[in-house]
Amino acid sequence: MCGIVGYLGPSKAASVLVSELKCLEYRGYDSAGVAVIEGGRLKVLKAAGKLANLENLLKERAPEATVGIGHTRWATHGAPTDLNAHPHTDENGMVAVVHNGIIENFGELKDELIAKGYKFSSDTDTEVVAHLVSHYYGETKDMLKAVMKLVTRLKGIYALGIVNRDVANTIYAVNHHYSLTVGLGNHENFLASDSIAVRQYTNQTLRLDQSEIAVITPDTVKLYSFEGKESTRPPIVSESTRFVVDKGDYKHFLHKEIDEQPSVLRQTLAKYLPDINKPIAFHKPKSKGGNGNGHHVATHGIELTNSQIRELERVQVLACGTAYHAGMIGKYIIEELTGIPVDVEIASEIRGRKLLVNQRTLTVAVSQSGETADTLAAITEAKRIGSYVLGITNRPDSHLAQIVPNLIVTECGIEVSVAATKTYIAQLLSFYLLAIFLAEERGAIDAEKSRTLKKTLNLMPALQEAVLAQEPLIQEAAINYSSAVDMVFVGRGFNYPTALEGALKLKELSYIHASGYAAGELKHGPIAVLDEKVPVVAVVVPGVVYEKTLSNAQEAKARHAKMIAVAVEGDKEVEKLFDTVLRIPPIEEFFSPLLTVIPLQLFSYFVAEALGKDVDQPRNLAKSVTVE
Ligand code: F6R
Repeated sequence: MCGIVGYLGPSKAASVLVSELKCLEYRGYDSAGVAVIEGGRLKVLKAAGKLANLENLLKERAPEATVGIGHTRWATHGAPTDLNAHPHTDENGMVAVVHNGIIENFGELKDELIAKGYKFSSDTDTEVVAHLVSHYYGETKDMLKAVMKLVTRLKGIYALGIVNRDVANTIYAVNHHYSLTVGLGNHENFLASDSIAVRQYTNQTLRLDQSEIAVITPDTVKLYSFEGKESTRPPIVSESTRFVVDKGDYKHFLHKEIDEQPSVLRQTLAKYLPDINKPIAFHKPKSKGGNGNGHHVATHGIELTNSQIRELERVQVLACGTAYHAGMIGKYIIEELTGIPVDVEIASEIRGRKLLVNQRTLTVAVSQSGETADTLAAITEAKRIGSYVLGITNRPDSHLAQIVPNLIVTECGIEVSVAATKTYIAQLLSFYLLAIFLAEERGAIDAEKSRTLKKTLNLMPALQEAVLAQEPLIQEAAINYSSAVDMVFVGRGFNYPTALEGALKLKELSYIHASGYAAGELKHGPIAVLDEKVPVVAVVVPGVVYEKTLSNAQEAKARHAKMIAVAVEGDKEVEKLFDTVLRIPPIEEFFSPLLTVIPLQLFSYFVAEALGKDVDQPRNLAKSVTVE
């Protein structure tokens, strides 16, 4: 989704801004732009479409400026056109603004500004900010005061980068329940809505607090609350290696990330399950955390005591999209091992509803980006009510990681392809580990059972490799079915959410309409859509729901649907019923979701590839969904 960047220093701003924007491309966007201050004037260059279009403009006009802001926009208010692209300026070309989030009261503010004689040239809510801050600057002749007045008028959650041609060596950054990071360099400073964009230049960063203004020059960063109180804090010094956007030998990040899943499991297991004879390594060390210079850094681990865990009465999972599917499987796993009832909610469904959690609930937010607005709002509400809150993410630098005291950080790094694959597998693994951890703490499983479960988890990376080795067969099947216009995915029990995830992957990557159902639900309605033109994909793994799933598949077959199975090697039964069988190694039903999703990911990938779709950045999608 939208990305903000900024630069001030000795280098040419435009090229730094573009290289920062390149790091944010993976989040999804549909236009891009920059504003630089050159010779006391604002120069704004912006273009709909990919960053390459903006780069072409910059080649023609090559600005020499050393101060600027930039943006990748994911359209919310107004179509993805040149005109609606950010930065937006006031009529006099005095200030330029880039913006993430939504200004909820923009209609009201726009009417007020129009009544004052301001003219608007875009459909965006952002343009209101440009006119309003320029108006207050006209009144106060002090940009900081103008920004402070501005924030008293804006409703919603947002982040802003603002430059004023009168204050040539300064960027004003505003964060209101969003995400903005300042990167500290040597006589140069950087701004970005995602720290990965500044980490290519510096390992020292300042993350803006929830309602904070930063006044940034090449040599200084001053932080103010919205009320004008100045504060200081030391930077976070990161030790981890910087994020490199590199596809290696792969054509697409998605393919690379699907193939990385065994190593994601290995690394996350090495971190949290170093020894199968010991408890899952979730307990937080006693120290208060921090990076040695006094600034709080998100530290992973769970700080609940054994008695707090024993007294838990419920687990509530909150997430969106693919992470929600991981949570659905999490419910089955935790309930099976611990007996604790688990509810899973789509985080956006919590808006405007009573969240029924309490001091004996563990509320778990799952998010690969750690920035999903609905998930953050829901977990914040759970925390306010007094529930224990736990985050599962691969981004320890994310907003989610900052606001939860209990945190599982999966070892898969940053996922570049917009469609989630390796982060999903990492989230699933987290639920297996969490379930074993809770079960051990509560005495719900004995040492032998715990050891057996851990042993099986350790086998999973190699079993995943065996599934990945089936790639040529999966590719062939995908090509055969790529002309379908509609597909149905079914599964039961642990693999009902796998069916939902399979359908979601196919939809988002290939744009073929697909729906996922609990197999038992087919005859309660969805079966009406089936005929010879609608292929049905069924996940059928031996276990308690195996025969029943096969019966449901029979029902589909009787409607002349073409049948595809994800089934274990050696299962002869499925061959009688299915036209195509995608194989996984024999596996217990309980652990099977860690394998069954892989053929479905590859299937969707190869269908999309065959159709020539933009696999890594599907249309209309964003990696980080920071609007509600
Ligand atoms: C699908 C996908 C989305 C995300 C959802 C939540 O491939 O990636 O459905 O799972 O937008 O995002 P996060 O995990 O960042 O909260």
